[in-house]
Amino acid sequence: MKILLTGGAGFIGSHTCVELLEAGYDVVVADNYVNSQPEALRRVEAIAGRKVASYEADVCDAAAMDRLFAAEKPDAVIHFAGLKAVGESVEKPLMYYRNNLDSTLTLLETMKKYGCSRIVFSSSATVYGQPEVLPVPETARLGCSSPYGWTKYMIEQILRDQAAADKELSVVLLRYFNPVGAHPSGLIGENPNGRPNNLMPNVLNAASGRMKELKVFGGDYDTPDGTCVRDYIHVVDLAKGHVCAIRYAAEHTGCEAVNLGTGVGYSVLDIIKSFEKSTGVKVPYVMADRRPGDIPAVYADPRKAAALLGWHTEKSLDDMCRDAWAFKEKNPNGYGAE
Ligand code: WQD
Repeated sequence: MKILLTGGAGFIGSHTCVELLEAGYDVVVADNYVNSQPEALRRVEAIAGRKVASYEADVCDAAAMDRLFAAEKPDAVIHFAGLKAVGESVEKPLMYYRNNLDSTLTLLETMKKYGCSRIVFSSSATVYGQPEVLPVPETARLGCSSPYGWTKYMIEQILRDQAAADKELSVVLLRYFNPVGAHPSGLIGENPNGRPNNLMPNVLNAASGRMKELKVFGGDYDTPDGTCVRDYIHVVDLAKGHVCAIRYAAEHTGCEAVNLGTGVGYSVLDIIKSFEKSTGVKVPYVMADRRPGDIPAVYADPRKAAALLGWHTEKSLDDMCRDAWAFKEKNPNGYGAE
């Protein structure tokens, strides 16, 4: 089977390329490199010892997607491509709705034209907003707190409606919790553009001295140690979840939403402690004000992923910290110039 990965040069896309190649699939990537670099794909090939066909293309570009499908005829698609900065989406909602929705509609129309009827979508736990129940199951009420989150919600709805109309279509909506870590080789990892928003890249910057200290956003939440709790998942576990989802989509039709999380919540201070224990490197930090929009706690009910996809996580929080640090040490400037 040949799998097209839109946005396949990104953090989760590149790790999924590796797992697909190692599972024996052929992989083709379409990426416009707005939030990624071609170097990531070179490293994917080095890890897997196999070639990746790649096209520099914007998924919104119908002609480019038509040329790619005509040339490659993929059997399935994993749709990673999309803008994903929560804060930026609040400042530029039109750009987010235009890019994330247009690209998906163009992709689905091209898939239909070429008889490609399996898609795995890179969704997010952000569609749950502030969950009413923890751990959060896939049946929880949905509601978003940013235009970015609403684009994920709307794309899920587009896919759900298309699967209802087209009985040949198979859709798996993967709702990621908090992906962190890096491939154990240290060759690929998270390579954020500009100033990172997420916790782990800032832990790495504080630990490596690129930042004076980590700011811990809020210590007075209603959680065990007052800092926010999240479900951090190793990016390699997450990538393997995509291989399981492709296998499932090849044997079923219809639309299923599936959480990809460990089911265990860790606080910001837990992350700092685990990082220091597993790497031996101190993380200088200060307690700071809450970050607007943060919710106190969210972590997954992972039972459906185990039952439906036969998938569960294998890596520990220490693995996540150790592997993230190994990538940072080997690539202090990410994929940029040394
Ligand atoms: C985690 C916790 C912060 C930075 C993200 C985004 C989005 C989504 C993944 C795809 C929070 C705290 C953070 C820092 C801190 N991706 N923090 N100091 O908020 O769960 O959301 O989830 O959908 O990227 O929605 O992840 O890593 O930004 O923050 O104290 O410098 O770490 O307050 O409690 P979050 P995060």
